[in-house]
Amino acid sequence: MRVTVLSGAGISAESGVPTFRDSKNGLWSRFDPYQLSSIDGWLQNPERVWGWYLWRHHLLTQVEPNEGHRAIAAWQDHAEVCVITQNVDDLHERAGSRPVHHLHGSLFEFRCARCGLPYTGELPEIVEATTDMEPPRCRCGGLIRPDIVWFGEPLPEEPWQRAVEATEAADVMVVVGTSAIVYPAAGLPELALSRGISVVEVNPEQTPLSASATVSIREPASRALPGLLHRLTALLN
Ligand code: APR
Repeated sequence: MRVTVLSGAGISAESGVPTFRDSKNGLWSRFDPYQLSSIDGWLQNPERVWGWYLWRHHLLTQVEPNEGHRAIAAWQDHAEVCVITQNVDDLHERAGSRPVHHLHGSLFEFRCARCGLPYTGELPEIVEATTDMEPPRCRCGGLIRPDIVWFGEPLPEEPWQRAVEATEAADVMVVVGTSAIVYPAAGLPELALSRGISVVEVNPEQTPLSASATVSIREPASRALPGLLHRLTALLN
């Protein structure tokens, strides 16, 4: 059975990684996405953006994959699994999932904003979110930036192509931990449904996908995912 997973920030919530739109401690309730996650914000104040992403990078080095990540990795023993994630953390990889396609980039990849050369230099540990810091410079003189897709920027071509292929080839798509409102990623479950592919949503909250999903499981990832493949196999065979 071919299972394609689309994950969002919610799958990492139980690892202690803040989501974006959670009303209580979501990142966008505490910080301005325009200032910190847009090319304009970067051009206006690269020090503030660089310090904020180094803080998020520091947070990610302090957390572990949870039962949800581990369940998806374990599915690989029983099915052909392809993980597409909107997340910039490496928790799917650390749980053992392969391949993982990052539609919005990764907080473990950095590159020159001018020439695109990857940056592999040392990164200072920033423990405060509001620490402005001068980004390092590339040998071409450009500033080093996170290799993350900011609002208004195009998605990287290769992960997007893999994501569309994996969606169209799936026997079932599991959509976990996403508010399903940011396109083009949010269009993938719609593509699956348009091809007659079952879409199973896992989210403790209702989302715009919930009504059209084949099944919408109103549970957190660490509870719903461990037994899900077994249930899906019984349902689909
Ligand atoms: N298990 C499953 N889902 C959860 C859990 C959990 N334990 N906890 C929270 N959620 C759900 C929330 O109900 C919400 O629907 O995860 C979702 C998180 O939504 P967002 O914070 O909007 O994150 P995401 O959907 O990944 O955002 C998409 O927006 O800001 C951009 O680039 C950023 O990749 C991000 C994109």
